[in-house]
Amino acid sequence: MSEIDTPVLQVQGLTVSYGAGPVVHGISLSLERGAVAGLLGANGAGKSSTLRAIAGLEPCKGKVIFEGEDISHLSTAERFKRGLVYVPEGRAIVADITVAENLTLGSYFIDSATRARRQQMVLDFFPEIANRLKSAAGLLSGGEQQMLAIGRGLMSAPRLILLDEPSLGLAPLLVARVYERLAAIQREQKLSALLVEQSFHVAAKLAVRAWVMRHGEIVGDLDEQALRSREGRQQAIDAYLGSRQEGRAAA
Ligand SMILES: Nc1ncnc2c1ncn2[C@@H]1O[C@H](COP(=O)(O)OP(=O)(O)O)[C@@H](O)[C@H]1O
Ligand SMILES: [Mg+2]
Repeated sequence: MSEIDTPVLQVQGLTVSYGAGPVVHGISLSLERGAVAGLLGANGAGKSSTLRAIAGLEPCKGKVIFEGEDISHLSTAERFKRGLVYVPEGRAIVADITVAENLTLGSYFIDSATRARRQQMVLDFFPEIANRLKSAAGLLSGGEQQMLAIGRGLMSAPRLILLDEPSLGLAPLLVARVYERLAAIQREQKLSALLVEQSFHVAAKLAVRAWVMRHGEIVGDLDEQALRSREGRQQAIDAYLGSRQEGRAAA
């Protein structure tokens, strides 16, 4: 396989367990380089556990193959240095240090000239935080904090970014804005991303394919055409999740 054809990420038979037993049951998926794929499903389906395991933050069984190399045995820090970056659910910026310091945390291992260049790129994408560099990050609004969390993730020039519900807790207008920025970043940088969302409609703003998770299993797979149409999304919700339980999975 040439470098171009090698999937950026392959997950094979991934099982994640907590005390009470497995919550992710041997799932497999493969993500093309330069593409954004969604991992969709209701609350509790196992989406975050999957992302955290890929990032090396949860013990798991199975294989995580990154750019053709088995990284299952590597620590989170080693995965991060290879360009596998995880942006957690609920933003998780550090509230009592400044915006600039938060950005630096995302790039602690690169030299200062590269860091300055990356920071300028991030601020160009997110002008909202550009004039807040010296503010404590905790003083930013929810939308600005999400931009900071994504910006911090971009500081290390990731080769794959794992985004856990970037829309969580944001008003629709801000969701739209965050997603516009993500789309611009993806267009310019051909970033590969695995995007977790509960809403099929939100994920469809960015993803070109999506897997549907339910009770720790992948139960469905949507192609770009199905994702782009309201009917396609609704059919998938009805088929894979059952329309009754889908309060938030707006088509
Ligand atoms: N640290 C943990 N310890 C025990 N159970 C957990 C932990 N994190 C998640 N779970 C459980 O695992 C299941 C999947 O959770 P999660 O991966 O967060 O789902 P999602 O992100 O799709 O909402 C849920 O039943 C949740 O309660
Ligand atoms: Mg989650």
